[in-house]
Amino acid sequence: MGSEPWFPVRLTGQHVILRRHAPANVEAFRRWYADPRVARLTRYQDGPMRPIEIERFFLARVVGPESLAMAIHLKDDGRLIGTCAFSQLDGDNGSALFHITIGEIDCWGQGHGTEATQLMLAHAFETLHLHRVALSVFEFNERAIRSYQRCGFLIEGRAREAIWRDGRRWDELTMSILGHEWAARRSVPDEPAVSQASASTSSSGSAARPATRDMD
Ligand SMILES: CC(C)(COP(=O)(O)OP(=O)(O)OC[C@H]1O[C@@H](n2cnc3c(N)ncnc32)[C@H](O)[C@@H]1OP(=O)(O)O)[C@@H](O)C(=O)NCCC(=O)NCCS
Repeated sequence: MGSEPWFPVRLTGQHVILRRHAPANVEAFRRWYADPRVARLTRYQDGPMRPIEIERFFLARVVGPESLAMAIHLKDDGRLIGTCAFSQLDGDNGSALFHITIGEIDCWGQGHGTEATQLMLAHAFETLHLHRVALSVFEFNERAIRSYQRCGFLIEGRAREAIWRDGRRWDELTMSILGHEWAARRSVPDEPAVSQASASTSSSGSAARPATRDMD
């Protein structure tokens, strides 16, 4: 996966900055994952996480030694608004799974999730030299699907009626993006979806490129 550091100290975009999580961030996780509106979009189980589950999740998947989880902060005032991560980093096959939650609901729909995802994909493909990043998303999560498509993810699979939510069954979608697809998007600044996204990620107007990516 390349010789560069695999776990960046920070990844800097135009409006968000991703940093390693601090132990105190567990307080925000307690709030985010206890909220039914967040749970509806992120959990297989119907209902929010219990406090003990949130603690376990934070220790194992967020600050654990094998986690590549980054806190999402607003660049302007440093506010912690969410979290994103790679799991199942597989060096043999060059693949990983991506996860993201903007936990602060007033920050949904402002481009921050898309920008954070782009920063993580840039790290995955340009620094770790992964071949493939995949994710799962419930079909009713239209905001997430739209955001992932804006980043270049394609729908590649559909687990039919895998989720029971809001009184009916829904499909779970698998989406992925490959390294050469990411590179192609980077090299075509005028590709419509990418050039729109660049407004929130780069003042240079070049594709979806984050402003800087600090690896110290
Ligand atoms: C999914 C998530 C990361 C997206 O981040 P975000 O900052 O809210 O989204 P963005 O503003 O970057 O992009 C959202 C896109 O969806 C569109 N959108 C917003 N609300 C929408 C809705 N209700 N239906 C369809 N599209 C919607 C926006 O217009 C935007 O598309 P555009 O850039 O083409 O205009 C964030 O909303 C989140 O964390 N949600 C809760 C947890 C979650 O769902 N996690 C993902 C689990 S797979």
